[in-house]
Amino acid sequence: MKLQALIAAALLSAVSASAGVADYNVIPRPQSVEENSSVSPFVLSRDVKISAPKSLRRESEFLKDYLSALPAGKSSGRIELKTGLKSDNPEAYRITVGPKNIVVEGASAAGVFYGIQTLRKSLPADLSDAVEMPAGVIEDAPRFAYRGAHLDVVRHFFDADEVKTFIDMLALHNINKFHWHLTDDQGWRIEIKKYPRLTEVGSKRAGTLIGRYGAGTEIDSIPVEGYFTQDAVRDIIGYAAERHIEIIPEIDLPSHMMAALASYPELGCTGGPYEVLCTWAGYKDVLCPGKDHTMEFIGDVLTEVMALFPSKLIHIGGDECPKDRWKECPDCQARIKELGIVATDDASAETQLQGYVTRYAAEVARKAGKSVIGWDEILECDDIPADAVVMSWRGIDGAVKGTARGHRVIQTPNDYLYFDYYQSDNLDNEPLAIGGYVPVDRVYAFEPFSDGMSDGQKALVMGPQANLWTEYVPTFSHLQYMELPRMAALAEVQWSLPERKDYHDFKCRMPRLIANYERAGYNYARHIEDTDVAYRPDRKARALEVKASVYPGSTLRYTLDGTRPSGSSAAYTSPLLLDSDCVITAASFDGEGRMGSVVSDTLVVTAPTFGTCKLAYEPYSPFAFGGADALVDGLVGNDNFRSGRWVGFLGDPCDATIEFAKEAEVSEVSFKTCLVWPEGALEMRKAEVYGSKDGVDFELLATLDNPEQDPAQGNGAYSHVLRFDPVTLKALRVVITPCEPSGIWKRILFVDEISAR
Ligand code: ACM
Ligand code: ZN
Repeated sequence: MKLQALIAAALLSAVSASAGVADYNVIPRPQSVEENSSVSPFVLSRDVKISAPKSLRRESEFLKDYLSALPAGKSSGRIELKTGLKSDNPEAYRITVGPKNIVVEGASAAGVFYGIQTLRKSLPADLSDAVEMPAGVIEDAPRFAYRGAHLDVVRHFFDADEVKTFIDMLALHNINKFHWHLTDDQGWRIEIKKYPRLTEVGSKRAGTLIGRYGAGTEIDSIPVEGYFTQDAVRDIIGYAAERHIEIIPEIDLPSHMMAALASYPELGCTGGPYEVLCTWAGYKDVLCPGKDHTMEFIGDVLTEVMALFPSKLIHIGGDECPKDRWKECPDCQARIKELGIVATDDASAETQLQGYVTRYAAEVARKAGKSVIGWDEILECDDIPADAVVMSWRGIDGAVKGTARGHRVIQTPNDYLYFDYYQSDNLDNEPLAIGGYVPVDRVYAFEPFSDGMSDGQKALVMGPQANLWTEYVPTFSHLQYMELPRMAALAEVQWSLPERKDYHDFKCRMPRLIANYERAGYNYARHIEDTDVAYRPDRKARALEVKASVYPGSTLRYTLDGTRPSGSSAAYTSPLLLDSDCVITAASFDGEGRMGSVVSDTLVVTAPTFGTCKLAYEPYSPFAFGGADALVDGLVGNDNFRSGRWVGFLGDPCDATIEFAKEAEVSEVSFKTCLVWPEGALEMRKAEVYGSKDGVDFELLATLDNPEQDPAQGNGAYSHVLRFDPVTLKALRVVITPCEPSGIWKRILFVDEISAR
C-alpha cells in the first residue's frame, strides 16, 4: 500500500472508531438494498460537497438541510445528484455508495427526492459524530403511484404553517398526494372570490360540541374560525410541489354544506335560516339541486378551485347525503321529473338526483381538463361518469364494486386507514376519539388489492390513503399524535412490495424514523414501544402459545398470577406454552428500566377450549378479530371490545358449533357479551345450547331468554350461564341471538369465550 493510501486508511479508521453507521433499510423499506462490506464506507459529515444540476437545486438544498444535523468535519468525497435513471417508474431512484462518492440517480427529480429521503432516514439516531455510509447499491421505486394522506382543516382549523409542517411529515414518509378537506358543515376554509360570504360568514362558528357526539349537547363558547386566502393556497401548493406532493382539494357536496347554506341560504331547499354547525351530525339540510342557481354555484366554485390547483383531480365529496329535504322540495321533485328519473329497486329517485349532481360536477371538471373523485356513495347511482374516481371509505366495498364497474379507485377503508380512530385498546390513556380501533399493526396489515379482485380490477387501484377527520383533534400536536407513527405503517403499505413487508422488522426499523420525528420536533404516539403479545391456540398440545415481539432496547417481563410485573419478574426470552387457568400480565421495560403499559389476559381452559369451532354466519369483518377460533382460544374478553378477544356479529346470530378435543362431562355452558357505545353493541335476546354425543346429532340442552335490551344498561362485559343435567359430550352448539336493533347505528353483537364445565 502506498503511503498516501495508508494515511487515508488510518484517517478513515480514526473516524470510524466513533462514527455511527447508516442503515439503508429505512421506512418505507426500499425494494432492494445490497451492501458491499469488502469496500470501505463513505464517511459523511455536514460539510460534504453536493453536486447537482440546476434542475435539482431544490433537492440539493433539502439534502444540505437534512445533513446540517451532522457535525462539521471531513467527508470522504462528494454526493452527486442526477436524473436520467432508466426506469418504467418515474419515481424510481438508485443510490450507489462507494468510498469516494455517493451517487443518487433518479428517473426524475421526484426519484432523486426519494433517494434523498432514504439517505436522510438511513442516518443513526445519534448524530454527534460523522456517519459511516456502508458501500453498496439501493434500488427503489414505489409500488403505488398514488400515495395519499387526507386532512380535515374544517372541524378544527390548522393554519398555513401547520399545514406546511403536515406536508413536511408527508415528505418524510414518501407520500405524494395531499387530499385537503376544505369545506364542511362546520366551516368553509377557502376563499372563493365570486362568493365572499362563504368565508365572511361560513368560516366562523360560535363554538364546538363538548365531549363525544351523542353523549351530550353542550356547546362551548370558544369561536373557531379561519380560512385560506387564494394567495395562501398558492403558496402552500408551491411548498408541497417542491416536496413532490400534489394537493387535491375537496369541496364536499351536495351534503356537508351547512357553512355554505349559512352564507347563502338560497342554495338550500327550504331557504333556511341555517347556521354553521357547532356539532358533528344530525342535520338534514343540503344543497338543493332543483334550483338552477345552486347548480351554477357548484359550477362556479369548482371552476375557481380548479383554476387554483394544478391537480388533474378534484374531490367533490358526495358522502352522507340525507335525502329528506329533496323528497319534500318542489324544485327537487320538478328536477326529478324534468330528468325523467324513475325510482328503481336499487336507487330511489333522490339517490339518482345525487347522480345528476355528480355528473354535473364531473362535466364542469371535464371542461377544465380534469376528473372528479367522489366518496364511495357516488356508486349508489348507476349513472356516474366513467372517469370518476371512487374513494372507498366504508371498508373496501367501494373499491371492489368501483373497479368491477371500471372506475379507478383509491383505498381509504375506515377499518384500516382512518387515523381519527383509536390507536390503542387502553382508552384510559387515550384522548377522546371518534371511536373505532386502528392500531399501527392494523394499518400495516392493510393490502390494497382486495381479495377476489381480478388483474383488471387491481390495475384500477390507484393506491391507498389514510384520512384524518378532526372533530376530536383540536390542536396540531394532537394531530401529530394521531398521525405518527401510523403514517409510517401507511408509508410501507403505499411504497413497499408486500413480500418486503414484515411487521416485526418494521418495528425494529422504527427507532431511526422516530429519531427523525424527534429532530423535527414532531409529537408522536408511543404504543409501538408497548408490550406486543400475540397468542396462538395450539390444538395438538391443548395449550396457548404466547409469543411477544419486543421493541428494540426493551425487555419484556411477565407474571402468571395476575400481579403487576416488576423489574425482577421473569424476562421473556422465548415463546411460552400455557395449558391451565392463569392470568398473564406483561409489561416492557426500556433501557432505563421505565415500565411501559401493562397488558393482561385471563386464560380459562375448559372442555371446549382449543377445540374446533365453526360459525354458521361470518362475523362482521371490522370486528371479526380472531374469528371462530377466538371463541375457544381460552382468552376471556374483558370490558374492552377492542382487545381482540371478542368476535362481533352484525345482523346475524352467533351460531357456533364446537368439537371438543376430547369427550367431557359438562353441566353448564357460559359465555359473555360486551356492550359498548358508540359502536352500538347489542345485548343478546336469547341463547340456546345443544349437545352432541357423537359429533353428528345435536339435542337441545338449555335455553336462556333475555328481556329486551335495557337502554340504561352500562357498557362492559356481561356473563351468561346455562345449566343442565350432567352429560358427556363430544360437541356443543351455542346459538346466541341479538336483540332487535333500534336507531340509526349499526348494531353489533360481541361474544366471547364459550366455556363448559
Ligand atoms: C367520510 O368519512 N364521511 C367520507
Ligand atoms: Zn330542493
